[in-house]
Amino acid sequence: MIEINNLTKTFGSFKAVDGLSLKVAPGEIFGFLGPNGAGKTTTVKILSGIMRPTSGTASVAGFDVAKEPLAAKRVMAYIPDEPFVYPKLTGWEFLRFIGDIYAVPAAEQRRRIPELLETFELAAHAGELLESYSHGMKQKLLIASVLLRRPKAVLFDEPTVGLDPKSIRRFKTLLTDIARDGAAVFMCTHILDMAEKLCHTVGIIYRGRLITKGTVDEVKALTTAQGARSLEDVFLELTE
Ligand SMILES: Nc1ncnc2c1ncn2[C@@H]1O[C@H](COP(=O)(O)OP(=O)(O)OP(=O)(O)O)[C@@H](O)[C@H]1O
Ligand SMILES: [Mg+2]
Repeated sequence: MIEINNLTKTFGSFKAVDGLSLKVAPGEIFGFLGPNGAGKTTTVKILSGIMRPTSGTASVAGFDVAKEPLAAKRVMAYIPDEPFVYPKLTGWEFLRFIGDIYAVPAAEQRRRIPELLETFELAAHAGELLESYSHGMKQKLLIASVLLRRPKAVLFDEPTVGLDPKSIRRFKTLLTDIARDGAAVFMCTHILDMAEKLCHTVGIIYRGRLITKGTVDEVKALTTAQGARSLEDVFLELTE
């Protein structure tokens, strides 16, 4: 569902992403791990179509994001690390807007928007302008907008930053549900505990290069640490 081939992005003479190739299948939750500045956000920005690669390709559901950007964007959702929402819309208006531009039928919107607002405890704030929402409230609204759309691929960049514990718990359940419905999930995260429990596969990017990828168990087996191994052990060892 998501395919990246030999992707490279340079800024001047600096290679932020260096020959990256990977695939995420329908129903798979992929955790994209790596230290600060490793190239995670650059990769998802290219996948989302908002940044052009220097070379290589990225596609979603068979659509090349550089050559067929509209078709690719129609089937994917991207939640950036800094939640962006239109400040002068209310929560309700924002969800209607997203529903309309992604052609969710009006009757379905009327039924599901109130449910989603309820799920994320935003119903009481649905009539308020988004400029008054907190970081976590904006993040939850964006997650609700993804669920409204049912995309085939979802890109998350540090999705749980700023969410309260209850919302994180709910997010994890929803992520599993999205994947069970057949979507491919591509999630950048520093929370290795969460990646270990939630992701089917993980990849570690270090200085722009993918240094390992595989199932969580495969990657955990790479550490030389004795006793109970964790993804954190492997991560720290490989990015030493
Ligand atoms: N627009 C830009 N111009 C110049 N350099 C950039 C630009 N965007 C990113 N970089 C550089 O590319 C590298 C990778 O950045 P990126 O944001 O992809 O890292 P990241 O893995 O998402 O890190 P973090 O975990 O801190 O979010 C960094 O060295 C960053 O300074
Ligand atoms: Mg980042």
